[in-house]
Amino acid sequence: MGGNGLRRYTGDLVNIDAGRISRDIFTDQAIYEDELERIFPRSWLFVGHESQIPEPGDFILSRMAEESVIFNRDRNDNIHVFLNNCRHRGMRVCRADTGNTRKFMCPFHAWVFSDEGALVGVPKMETGYHNELDKSEWGLIEARVANYYGYIFACWDEETLDFETYLGDLRFYFDDYCELPDGTHGDWEAFGGVFKWRVPCNWKFGAENFGGDYYHNPSHASVDAVVLSPAGVKGRHTYDAITKARELYKLNICVTPEGHNARGELFKDDYEYLPTYQEMAVVEDYFRDCYKQRQSRLGEKARWFGHGGTIFPNVSYSNGVQSMGTWNPCGPHETEIWRIFLAPKAAPDEVKNVLRHYVIRYQGPSGLTEQDDMENWGSAHEGARGTIARRYDFHYGMGMGYERKGWPVDWLGGNVSATEDVSEQNQRAYYARWAKNMDTPPTARRHPKPAEAAE
Ligand code: FES
Ligand SMILES: [Fe+2]
Repeated sequence: MGGNGLRRYTGDLVNIDAGRISRDIFTDQAIYEDELERIFPRSWLFVGHESQIPEPGDFILSRMAEESVIFNRDRNDNIHVFLNNCRHRGMRVCRADTGNTRKFMCPFHAWVFSDEGALVGVPKMETGYHNELDKSEWGLIEARVANYYGYIFACWDEETLDFETYLGDLRFYFDDYCELPDGTHGDWEAFGGVFKWRVPCNWKFGAENFGGDYYHNPSHASVDAVVLSPAGVKGRHTYDAITKARELYKLNICVTPEGHNARGELFKDDYEYLPTYQEMAVVEDYFRDCYKQRQSRLGEKARWFGHGGTIFPNVSYSNGVQSMGTWNPCGPHETEIWRIFLAPKAAPDEVKNVLRHYVIRYQGPSGLTEQDDMENWGSAHEGARGTIARRYDFHYGMGMGYERKGWPVDWLGGNVSATEDVSEQNQRAYYARWAKNMDTPPTARRHPKPAEAAE
C-alpha cells in the first residue's frame, strides 16, 4: 500500500499497462508529502554548473526539492553542497544568493561554519556551553556531489547508486548534451544568473513535457509562425533550417527502468551542413566549423542530434539553447522553476550574444515558447483539481505496444526504447519509475537514529 494510506501507486494510481494515470498524483497533498520523502532525497538533483563558482570561496544558493542548499567551492578548490540550515535552530546560515566567503556565520546566534562545512565558531563556548559542545558533530549537513563534465549534481542518500550508474543508458544522450558544438568536452559557461519563476502547476508537468512531449507542438503555432530563432527563417529552433532537410527520424528515447527521457533526431547518413546564421558571418563560420569538427570526431554517431530530455525526477536540459534546470516542488499546486543558460566559453562574443538574445526570446518567463507551455501546464493542473474531473484518469496510452528496442541503429542500443515520431512511451517510463519509488517507503528518517543516539 502506498503512503497515501489508500492505494498502491504501481498498477493503481499509475496503471502503465492500461496507459492511465490518476489525476490525484498531481494534486493530492498526502501524495505530495510522500514525494518529498520517497522521490527527491533518493535522487541525484542538479544544483548548478561549476562555472557559476569559478574561484575558491565562490558560492551560490541553490535548491534541492523544497530546501535551500549552498553550492560552493572551498579554499582548496573542492566543490560542496550543504543544506543551508543551521544545526542550532535551523536558520539559513547563508542569506546572500551569491558571493565569495571563507565562512558562513548564522545570523541568529552567530554559529560559524567554514567553507568546508565544519562548525568552527560558537559564541559563549566557555561560559554558555562550558566547553562541552563537541563542534565536530555539529557541522553543516553535506550532500554527495557528482561533477559530470562541469554539471554538478547532489544526492542525500548514501544508498543511491553513483551518478553515472544512476544515469544508465541516458549517458549517451546526456554526454551529447554536455559536448560543445564541436563534439569535444570543453568548457561551457553559465551566463546571466539563475532564472527563477513560479508557475501554478504540479512540478511533474514540466518534467514530463521536457522529457518527450512532441505531441504538444500545435500549442506553439504562434511562435512557429514568427522568426524566433536566430536562423532568420520562420520557426523557434536553431536547428529548424537544418533538420527539415536532414531528418530521418524524430525519436523519443526512454531509459528504463531508470525513468529518464531524451528526445532528438537521427539524421540521414549523407547530410551536409546547411547555412543557419546567414546574416551573421562570424556566427555562421563558428557553427559551420563546429559542425564539421563534430562530424569528423564522432563519425556515424554525429547523426544523433539531441533536442533535450529529463533526468528523473526533476532535471531537464535543452540542446540548442543549452539550458539546464530543475522543477522545484512548492506544494502540489506550485512549481518554482530554476534554469541556467550556457554558452561555449571559448566562442566569439558574437556567438555568445546571439545565444543570449535567443534564450531570452525562447525560454524562461520572457520566452514566447515557454509562455505557451506555462499556459498549458497551469490549465492542465487546474483541470486535474475539479471535483468531478479528478474522478477520471489521464490518458497516457499513445504508442503503447509499438516501442522498438535498439532501433533504428545499434549504437542507440542498450536498454533503450525508441519510437518514431510522437509517443508517450517516455512519460510511461518516467511514471513507472516514479510509482516504483513511491511504493518503497524510506528506510531512515532521523539522524542519528534513536538507537544510535542512546548509545
Ligand atoms: S540558529 Fe544558527 S546559531 Fe542559532
Ligand atoms: Fe513546449
